Amino acid sequence: MSLDISYVRSQFPALEDGFAYFDNAGGSLVLRNVAARISEYLLTTSVQTGASYEHSQRATSRLMEARGKIAKLLGAQRAEEIVLGPSTTVLAQSLARAMENSLQPGDEIIVTDFDHESNIGPWRALEKRGIVIKEWSIDRESYEIDLDELDCLMTERTRLVAVTHASNILGTINPIKEIARRVHEHGAEIVVDAVAYAPHRAVNVTDLDVDYYIFSFYKTYGPHFAVMYGKYEKLLELDGLYHYFYGREKVPMKLEPGNANYELAWGSAGIVDYMDALGGETGDRTAIDLAFDRIAAHETLLSERLLAYLRDRNDVTIVGRRDSETHRRVPTISFKVDGRDSAEIVRSTEKDRIGIRFGDFHSRRLIERLGLAEGSGVVRVSMVHYNTSEEVDRLIESLDRALA
Ligand SMILES: Cc1ncc(COP(=O)(O)O)c(C=O)c1O
Repeated sequence: MSLDISYVRSQFPALEDGFAYFDNAGGSLVLRNVAARISEYLLTTSVQTGASYEHSQRATSRLMEARGKIAKLLGAQRAEEIVLGPSTTVLAQSLARAMENSLQPGDEIIVTDFDHESNIGPWRALEKRGIVIKEWSIDRESYEIDLDELDCLMTERTRLVAVTHASNILGTINPIKEIARRVHEHGAEIVVDAVAYAPHRAVNVTDLDVDYYIFSFYKTYGPHFAVMYGKYEKLLELDGLYHYFYGREKVPMKLEPGNANYELAWGSAGIVDYMDALGGETGDRTAIDLAFDRIAAHETLLSERLLAYLRDRNDVTIVGRRDSETHRRVPTISFKVDGRDSAEIVRSTEKDRIGIRFGDFHSRRLIERLGLAEGSGVVRVSMVHYNTSEEVDRLIESLDRALA
C-alpha cells in the first residue's frame, strides 16, 4: 500500500494555507496530535515529577511513557538509553563535556568536513585539552566519501568518530552501519548526527550498532526539542552534568541537568503514534518500519521529479547525487546556477508562495570545501513526505521563471 497523502496532509494543519513548504531540513511542520499533546499536558499535568501526590505521579509516569515511545522510534533496547535535551547542538556539546575527562592528551577524534557544525565544533573544541583532531574529507568532485580513507585515519589512539547519517546539503545517506563496524574494529566509538536523516527513514540504533545517535524533533514533525540515544553501558561511563548527588549510575538524568522539558517530551512521543497510524497501527516496530517504507517511496518520486528537471538544465549544477536512489539519498536537494546568486533565485520564488532557502545551513566547512560560498551558497529544496508532486511542479514552474 502506498502513502495515504490526504491522510498525511490532514495531520499537518499548517498545510491548509496553501503555501509550498520546501524548507523542511530547516524545520518541518508540526503534527496536529503533537501540538494537542503539548497543550493537553500543560493544561492537565503541569506539576513537578517525583512527588507522592497523584498528579505528580501521573507526570512522572507520562515522562517515562514518552521516553519509552521515543525509545521505540529509535529502536533502542531500553528507555534509559534516551537522553532528552533542547537541541542537537546542546546534546552534542553535553556529550563532549561528559566525555572529556576520560580522554588523554594524544587521544584522537575524527571529525568530517561534511557534517553540520553541531557535530564538529564540540569535538574540535577538545583540541585545547591536547586531543588530536583529524579530519575525514569528502571528494570535491564526486561528493562521495571514502571508507578506506577513514580506515587510514584511524589508529590505536582513535577514541571517537563523529559523522553524519545524512548530509543536510547533499542529501547523501552515509553507510552508518558499515562505518560503525569499522570504527568498533579499531576500538573506537561513533557519534552520529541524524538530524537530516530521521525525518525520512526508519532509525534503528540497535541494528546500526552506534554508540551515540542524536537528532532534533523540530525537523521530525515535532517541537523544538531533541534526543540523544546512548548505549546504556556507555552512558553509565560518562561523567554526570547534574548535581553531585546524581551519581554515575543515574542514567539518563545525570545527562539532563535541570529537568527535561516534560511537555515537549510528551508532545514528541506523538510522532510515534503518527508513524504507527501510517504503518497500520500494529503498535510495534513493524508499523514504524512500514510507515517509513511508504514515506521513502513517496519521497523518491518527489526527488526524481525535481532532479529530472535540474539534470535537464545545462546551467544547473546539482550539489550531491544526481539520482534519486532511495537507499542513497533523502529528498534534500541543493544546486547552484551558473552566474546567478542563490539568494536572488530563492527570493524570486517567494512571490509564488514557495519556501526554499539559500546559504550554507551551518555546514560551512562543506560549502567552503566545495568552493560554493560565493554567491550566497547553494539553493536548497528540502522536501518531506507531506509534499506533493503538484507542489514540486509548482516549484519547477517558479524556478523556470526565475532562471529564464
Ligand atoms: C544536520 C544537522 N545537524 C544538526 C543541526 C542542529 O540542530 P539543532 O538546531 O537542534 O541544534 C541541524 C540544524 O539545522 C542540522 O541540519
